[in-house]
Amino acid sequence: MSFVVEPSAIESGVITVPGDKSISHRALMLGAAASGTTSISGFLAGEDCLATAEALRSMGVTIEQPKDTEVLVHGSGLADWIKPDGPIDLGNSGTAIRLFAGLLSGSPFPTELTGDESLMSRPMNRVIRPLTMMGAEIASDGGMPPLQIKVVRDLAGIDYRLPVASAQVKSAILLAGLRAEGDITIEEPAVTRDHTERMLRSMGAVVTQGGTRIQMRGGQSLNGVQVEVPADLSSAAFLILAATIGKAVTLEIPGVGINPTRTGMIDILQAMGADISLNNVRLQGEEPVADLIVRSASLTGIDVDPAKVSLAIDEFPVLFIAAACAEGRTRFSGIGELRVKESDRIFAMADGLRALGISVDESEDGAVVQGGRIRGGHVASHGDHRIAMSFAIAGTVADHPVTVSDTRNVDTSFPGFVDCLQSLGVSITRVEEKRE
Ligand code: S3P
Repeated sequence: MSFVVEPSAIESGVITVPGDKSISHRALMLGAAASGTTSISGFLAGEDCLATAEALRSMGVTIEQPKDTEVLVHGSGLADWIKPDGPIDLGNSGTAIRLFAGLLSGSPFPTELTGDESLMSRPMNRVIRPLTMMGAEIASDGGMPPLQIKVVRDLAGIDYRLPVASAQVKSAILLAGLRAEGDITIEEPAVTRDHTERMLRSMGAVVTQGGTRIQMRGGQSLNGVQVEVPADLSSAAFLILAATIGKAVTLEIPGVGINPTRTGMIDILQAMGADISLNNVRLQGEEPVADLIVRSASLTGIDVDPAKVSLAIDEFPVLFIAAACAEGRTRFSGIGELRVKESDRIFAMADGLRALGISVDESEDGAVVQGGRIRGGHVASHGDHRIAMSFAIAGTVADHPVTVSDTRNVDTSFPGFVDCLQSLGVSITRVEEKRE
């Protein structure tokens, strides 16, 4: 399925975006590990989170979904999980496979975790290494999935310095900690999203955080809670960009999660000249949210602060488009992690922008984008949801139509993306791809 976007500026309005993917995954997993019912509202019914729900069901957890966005997880503790019938397929989701690797380490039955072509080529040694230090035994295919998680006697605590800033790895260790005896101490090279720590605390665990250091006692039990999932800032990012590069647009996006470990993209765009305000800031359970108001503004190229990278890790595709629309040059550095996301995002963005007439210089862990006119043309999404959506937004301000191929994975994180843009006046259509 391709997207075809005709030049068509976004209109002013109020638009809601689906629930946060990271928090939806965690609410399912921690709810299933807890005792009692966890009722989730604002759940993201995207393919990644639905794969997590299916995985838990295959291990005997009762999960009801009375509405798309409402889920009830009836947990009775990790000890009640049963052996699934076959391998657990986690589709496109890096978060699901890495967090399950932690949750299933030390389980009394063996499991095999697998996924789609993109997931099968993503690095897993980053979770295998610390989990092995805790006593887990995990076989992989040269550091990539499938992961075979063997039965071991006990898990121990760990004192671990993460070599890469990764919330997925940090979370895998914390989740394995639920079955471990001893203390868990993690030191991160840079602050990463802390939804796991917040949710563990809301469910009764004692987890302490100070800067880049996280500590938890192993073997703590959890109680089910209510989780009201905020709208996903990583999905709102596409609309924030569309309004910013639009013409005299004012867009309101209510109830968006603004956890400070996630808002790097807002800071970076504001440094480029964007007009984004955070209104009605409040706490929704453990997570801060706000109503975002975005007004169109002219952008200027900057040297993006590498200290913001882990706080904006999923928003770089959007920021590359912002850079293409800015006056002058934007330099990205310290973004090497983008090469091991759902696609090689540095390459995918550089390649796609060049196809649209923008000059980009790429290095191993950075890129320099020269702002200019987006001509229009054909772009490959490399099967990556965020690449597809970023180029769809570029199409709204291009001189000619932009066609983005292989967009079906948009449903992993932002079901309803096309309808959402159409409701704001954007001319975007889905076109079946011709088979060779
Ligand atoms: C996520 C962490 C990030 C992010 C991903 C979601 C999470 O990955 O890119 O989309 O929910 O923990 P890394 O931990 O690999 O940086």
